[in-house]
Amino acid sequence: MIKVVDVHKSYTKDNETIKGVSFEVKEGQIFGLLGPNGAGKTTLMQMIATLMKPTSGEITIDGLSASKDLLEIHRKIGFLTNEIKLDPMSTPNDLFDFFAALYDIPEDELRDRKDESFARFGISPFAEKRINELSTGMKQKISIAISLIHNPPVIIFDEPTNGLDILTSKQVTDYLLELKAKGHAIILSTHIFSVAEELCDEIAILVDGRIAAQGTVDELISQAGAENFEKAFFKIYVSNHVE
Ligand SMILES: Nc1ncnc2c1ncn2[C@@H]1O[C@H](COP(=O)(O)OP(=O)(O)OP(=O)(O)O)[C@@H](O)[C@H]1O
Ligand SMILES: [Mg+2]
Repeated sequence: MIKVVDVHKSYTKDNETIKGVSFEVKEGQIFGLLGPNGAGKTTLMQMIATLMKPTSGEITIDGLSASKDLLEIHRKIGFLTNEIKLDPMSTPNDLFDFFAALYDIPEDELRDRKDESFARFGISPFAEKRINELSTGMKQKISIAISLIHNPPVIIFDEPTNGLDILTSKQVTDYLLELKAKGHAIILSTHIFSVAEELCDEIAILVDGRIAAQGTVDELISQAGAENFEKAFFKIYVSNHVE
């Protein structure tokens, strides 16, 4: 569903941020990008979400080019990142209606989706409050609900549980597992090992813009010859990071 082939990205002439990354994510699969700050996770996800073009290489989603077929791809992806902020003066109700209109979602369908996702995430009591009066967790849940308003087959979530308490985090991870079971192709980045271990069918460890290792949690542990996943990550990082 998502194909990334030998992607490079340079923000400046003398520095390459992504140095030839390839991977594939299939329907019903959760693919994790794990890597330290500055490894290039957000850069990679922004390119997959068509917000930025690779310097070279190719990204396709369901056979569509992420550099050319932007409108078709927008209907197929749900993108979440910390860099995009909700309008502080809007209410969850207004935002939901606004994005539903962008995606031409019919009125009755919108009502059902709103009811379902407001109930799931406990948004209903806050539906008429301004975004700037809401907690971090509530804002994140609203961002997630909005990013999936058009029921996209492909989900691209950049650190979806960042800053969330364990209860809210569990609501999000349970939801992602449900979406996986329904056949969505999901790519997520995270710094949280337990999230990666619990959710991901396959993990790519990104170090300095390259995939240093890739596989299931068990495969990565055995590749690294480590006792657990966290230790495997450190070993892989140390043997691939260049000062
Ligand atoms: N717009 C930009 N212009 C120039 N350099 C950038 C830009 N955005 C990111 N970078 C650089 O690219 C590198 C990768 O950044 P990126 O945000 O993709 O990393 P990340 O893995 O998402 O990190 P984090 O875990 O902190 O979110 C960093 O060195 C960063 O400084
Ligand atoms: Mg990032």
